[in-house]
Amino acid sequence: MTAATRGVEAPGRAEVGARTLRTDRWWLPPAATTVGLLIFVVYATVRAFQQQYFFADERYLTPFYSPCVSLGCASEPGSAHFGMFLPDHPLLPYAAISLPFLLAFRLTCYYYRKAYYRSFWLAPAACAVPEPHATYTGETRFPLILQNVHRYVFYIAVIVSVINTYDAIVAFRHPTDGFVVGIGNLVLLVNVVLLWCYTLSCHSCRHVMGGRLAHFSKHPVRYRIWTWISALNTRHATFAWITLGTLVATDLYVLLVASGTITDLRLVG
Ligand code: FES
Repeated sequence: MTAATRGVEAPGRAEVGARTLRTDRWWLPPAATTVGLLIFVVYATVRAFQQQYFFADERYLTPFYSPCVSLGCASEPGSAHFGMFLPDHPLLPYAAISLPFLLAFRLTCYYYRKAYYRSFWLAPAACAVPEPHATYTGETRFPLILQNVHRYVFYIAVIVSVINTYDAIVAFRHPTDGFVVGIGNLVLLVNVVLLWCYTLSCHSCRHVMGGRLAHFSKHPVRYRIWTWISALNTRHATFAWITLGTLVATDLYVLLVASGTITDLRLVG
């Protein structure tokens, strides 16, 4: 089968001639998605390898370095809440045990798949805009069949969210001043709440709670949780974008305080 006999040019399809008849700015959402994702990827990559300014005021740990398990975390006493056992190497991020899973969680997320399939691969870029690819095998073959690991990576993402929650809670304790509340605490707290919204609104989470149940009436607790998660799930794409923003904002705040560019305002203590 040649390229001309497949897709929109296959026999039996209407002979439109034009690439698309859409006259609106259909290219705007995929272009904005491309720019947004690229900005995040570049920022996160630079920060993950910077190995500096990741712990501020002896209590604020940026989520990009959590859990901090490299021997290099010793440069910031108190930043390693779960021990240090990875070698300190410029090419090994300090949070090398969590970052690959978080990356996999986002890469295989059902929403992000739609976003980057449309924006980077133009498959298709928008409704009624034919994709440039001649063949389509979906997610039935290697490598895209690996997208199915999402349901398993979800469990690891839950563990990382618990660790981020722990970081946000222990940040209320200053090693010498005791219980304190600063703007940084609020930043970490908002970030972790939104991370939970993103993680719990995951389609896999919804399936874990309510999937494969033949009778909801026989599982009232799971049904109740499933309805809550279903409500969150309708906003999953929104949480996907908001959490990219809050992750960057939280990391940037820690960076600015740790580097002495700004001072953390103490509200209590
Ligand atoms: Fe997006 Fe699971 S579907 S995180």
